[in-house]
Amino acid sequence: MKLVEAPDYMSMSKQAADYIATRVREEPTMTLGLATGGTPLQTYRYLIQDYENKETSYQHVQTFNLDEYLGLPKDHHNSYYTYMKQNLFDHIHIPPSHTHIPNGMCTDVAQECEMYEKKLDQAGGMDLQILGIGENGHIGFNEPGTSFLSTTHLVKLTESTRKANSRYFSSMSEVPTHAITMGIQSIMKSKEIVLLVSGERKSAAFRRLMNKEVSEEFPASALCQHKNVKIFADHEALG
Ligand code: GLP
Repeated sequence: MKLVEAPDYMSMSKQAADYIATRVREEPTMTLGLATGGTPLQTYRYLIQDYENKETSYQHVQTFNLDEYLGLPKDHHNSYYTYMKQNLFDHIHIPPSHTHIPNGMCTDVAQECEMYEKKLDQAGGMDLQILGIGENGHIGFNEPGTSFLSTTHLVKLTESTRKANSRYFSSMSEVPTHAITMGIQSIMKSKEIVLLVSGERKSAAFRRLMNKEVSEEFPASALCQHKNVKIFADHEALG
């Protein structure tokens, strides 16, 4: 794992976006794995700026999102579909048919998970996966205890994750209890991983990751076994 240190959130985001945009220009047909949450927001803003200034093309890029809440319609303001449209897709001229997000309103969850994983494999897996990290070390929505062999699956969110994400909802009771997420194995299939870590809230998780002790109780530790991980972290996260 290679660490890229930045003094603050803005410069961490700028460095990550510059790196990702360069990779897209080098490999214009790449498959890009996308994350949601607060952390990647500024990285996405810089990617949009880069698109506007340098005309980096997303015409032939395919994207796969890590996860989606179960039970939220696409157009719900808290769905990850809406998040992606508002914060990235609507601004980079990417064909909608190239963007993939699990369907949180599917009627057959097992079938949806299987189909999503299959689509991912058919696309040749991800070339570059952007990741954030939860305070408890979750990646995607893979909570502590998830098997490292897991592929796309249904998860019951832990109370700590629901609480952390409740800041985007008007009340805790509105936060979905379940989600569909790529598994650890799906994530590990990516040729390259870019992990974004920002803020004091993440410093304990960051320290634990840097201990490099691999355990399913700390999902992000799977990354220690991956050959090509870059961690962009700001000073607050570094502690
Ligand atoms: C959510 C997402 C993750 C994200 C994590 C951290 O639960 N499913 O993909 O990495 O939260 O979010 P934030 O960046 O807002 O701290």
